[in-house]
Amino acid sequence: MGDHSIQHFDYLILGSGAAGLLAAKRLADHGRVAIVNKGDFSESNTYQAQGGIAGATNVADSIESHIADTIHAGAGLCHEDVVNQIISSGSRIIQELIDLGTPFDTEATGTLHLTREGGHSQRRVAHSKDATGRAIGETLLQHVQQHPNITCLRRHTAVDLITSRRLGRHSGKNSCLGAYLLDPDGSIITISAAHTVVATGGTGKVYMYTSNPHAATGDGVAMAWRAGCTVMNLELMQFHPTCLYHASSPTILLTEALRGEGAHLVDSQGRRFAFDYDKRGELAPRDIVARAIDHEMKKHGQDCMFLDVRPLGEETIINYFPNIHERLMAIGLDMREQPIPVVPAAHYMCGGVKADVAGRTSVEELYVIGEAACTGLHGANRLASNSLLECLVMAEFCADAIIKTNTKPQDTTLPVWDDSGTVPETERVQIKQNWDEIRATMSNYVGIVRSNERLRRARRRLNLIREEIASYYWQYPISRDLIELRNLSLVADLIVRSAQMRHESRGLHYSTNYPETAATAEDTLLTPDQL
Ligand code: FAD
Ligand code: SIN
Repeated sequence: MGDHSIQHFDYLILGSGAAGLLAAKRLADHGRVAIVNKGDFSESNTYQAQGGIAGATNVADSIESHIADTIHAGAGLCHEDVVNQIISSGSRIIQELIDLGTPFDTEATGTLHLTREGGHSQRRVAHSKDATGRAIGETLLQHVQQHPNITCLRRHTAVDLITSRRLGRHSGKNSCLGAYLLDPDGSIITISAAHTVVATGGTGKVYMYTSNPHAATGDGVAMAWRAGCTVMNLELMQFHPTCLYHASSPTILLTEALRGEGAHLVDSQGRRFAFDYDKRGELAPRDIVARAIDHEMKKHGQDCMFLDVRPLGEETIINYFPNIHERLMAIGLDMREQPIPVVPAAHYMCGGVKADVAGRTSVEELYVIGEAACTGLHGANRLASNSLLECLVMAEFCADAIIKTNTKPQDTTLPVWDDSGTVPETERVQIKQNWDEIRATMSNYVGIVRSNERLRRARRRLNLIREEIASYYWQYPISRDLIELRNLSLVADLIVRSAQMRHESRGLHYSTNYPETAATAEDTLLTPDQL
């Protein structure tokens, strides 16, 4: 058994992407904060964000127009009160980021250079070249690292939340008391905290092909579910239309801003096909463009379609998309000269843990913010570049809500982790096999186009995989791989169950058995007590 210790903080924040960093910064003036990530700071969806952050900053634009585009993309499922609150904060949040030092691109006049993405009727996406997330993340990180009240716990993986119910101290309400973390030496630390904020990001790794980095294994959704939270609309996985298709390179996202600036989608004969599917062509919302590519690939029996960036010209490519250009050149692809092979890949989880705009969940003192949460902003299909905005608005609202509550003292009597009886792991092959099986099952049966039979098959396979994982999870000392695998299998199962509950096609969920959109739009809700 390892050396398992206990530490106390006022606020525990799991995840150091945009949501977690801003919440930490804001809470640190009011108490001691621990902010945790399972790798380096760069291992987050935030650091990968390319296109930018949407907000009506231009005089020709308006909050009303941004709201209308968000609701239109959301295919009838957006919660309008949430849309109003978040979207109306857009220009304020962008100004705050500027004040903190974020290097957004500007015009010669000094005003923001705004790019355009699918579903937006205006140029309204503020960006820092094609690496906006890194610019925002690094800016926030500098402030967080300088704050004396913040302890950064890098390479610590949250294993589970500690709740009063889990400890059998259930006196009417279930509240969160902290979390268990796996530290880099393999010991489990108990963190007790008056308030816990889950900001663990998305779950793209549940699919074989994804734009997400390795950390996106849905840990927060799985932990919150085990703690008793309701999850919402998990079947609504957004596939980004244009990720690089290449045999030997990791996935590289080709930002939608490339299409916003004039890049074309073409088939292997160079024919533009996007207008066959929607009058907005390449700039239709993502669900439509991703399905169009998927349909063309299946129709022609081809492995990919192509993004022709040449219409932008060399100057725009080099000035605004230098990182993508450099990464493609490193594998011998020159966007200035040739169309780039692309496929849709899992990109963004529109569903998540049901939360309000301040991240409040059904468990007391437990908040979920950012991509791990589902507020209803995105409805059935997220409008591009609305997610960084949601992360930051939620982080502020969450910190403000926490500060306003009477903070109770941390619970100093939490039990330390007990791993007596575990034996050294000898069969790593089991973990690898189960990882691969989950991702293949999800990609083949729960992708862009679904059917009742595919979902049934996926459910059967996932049941078996989850049984196998359950049989060895408590046998071995815990590792990051094992924690992620267990979470991935749970989230995959919840996605399939949610998909089976939606008897219609809407936004990102398309079923061949239910091709029509139902007259009334309803969220898919699952609570642990139901199962
Ligand atoms: P993340 O930034 O993903 O951070 C999650 C954090 O949680 C990480 O620090 C991770 O280490 C930590 N973590 C996870 N599990 C654990 C655990 N068990 N224990 C401890 N720590 C844990 N959105 C836009 O608005 N505009 C864009 O241009 C844009 N481009 C994108 C491009 C790409 C390639 C991708 C993948 C996404 C893009 N998005 C974009 C989406 C957006 O980046 C994300 O939705 C957003 O950054 C999520 O932020 P977050 O803070 O919720 O989570
Ligand atoms: C992109 O740059 O295409 C991604 C934008 C987003 O996911 O919001």
